Amino acid sequence: MSKTIRKAVLPVAGLGTRFLPATKAVPKEMLTVVDRPIVQYVVDEALAAGIEHIVFVTGRNKHVIEDHFDIAYELEETLSSRGKKAALGLLEDMRPAAGSTSFTRQQEPLGLGHAVWCAREIIGNEPFAVLLPDMVMKSEKGCLAQMVEAYEKNGGNVISVEEVPWDQTQNYGIIERSEPMADGTFKVTGMVEKPAPGTAPSNLYINGRYILQPEIFGLLENQATGAGGEIQLTDAMLTLMGKQDFFGVEYTGETYDCGSKAGFLAANIAYAMDNEELAAEVRPLLEKLLKN
Ligand code: G1P
Repeated sequence: MSKTIRKAVLPVAGLGTRFLPATKAVPKEMLTVVDRPIVQYVVDEALAAGIEHIVFVTGRNKHVIEDHFDIAYELEETLSSRGKKAALGLLEDMRPAAGSTSFTRQQEPLGLGHAVWCAREIIGNEPFAVLLPDMVMKSEKGCLAQMVEAYEKNGGNVISVEEVPWDQTQNYGIIERSEPMADGTFKVTGMVEKPAPGTAPSNLYINGRYILQPEIFGLLENQATGAGGEIQLTDAMLTLMGKQDFFGVEYTGETYDCGSKAGFLAANIAYAMDNEELAAEVRPLLEKLLKN
């Protein structure tokens, strides 16, 4: 079994209905947290974990994501002729290497499991990561990098989890686990997608980062619809768990669910406060607002 994770899947086909009208013409993944689109944070997390190739599973009206990771010829030419070196450098630094991205389309919104399955030909027969771009992770060592460390030790499949208040378990995939091992990782012994209130086996939710073995694709191909009438990745993982190990890593860091308005705003404030100059301007504004 390969101990290197080279490829990652980013499902970016979601409609972003919770952010209408902002997401009518702009993909939700392109909404900005301070000065970078959400998807950029997730790509950076993947690259920092050693990922070499990113497969974007897109949908109609998502072409600006592709443009964002390409050369913007006119813009860059203009910046260059005006001597705007810093801005030009910024664009060059964020651009993935030529040939290190692929784009495929999920033609119908059939669920996360189906979106991941759409990447099967590009991933091929090797372990891979999945990063859900709604979740922006802020930590010293990235969430996927924390998982890769566990994967290099134990192999198998790896899921990142975090605690969630019990009254929110119905919004997520929830796992059941064994006692943690010496290094803090643990075996996942069960999982359920969006359990009915009061039925969750724990309050550890799957926070949108996975390392999976390619055998998941064969299961996704025949996966019946599950919670919400969608083809669920969690259901296929549960079946794979009958044949392969699943390890859990309790993520250390902050997670901002940018699929929700509150999480998106919190991410903006958190990243703004990280920038010394911006924080100096934002802090008094926030203090004033909080006083009223
Ligand atoms: C998806 C997964 C779920 C996971 C969640 C994290 O759900 O199916 O298991 O906990 O992402 O954000 P969704 O948010 O697409 O409904």
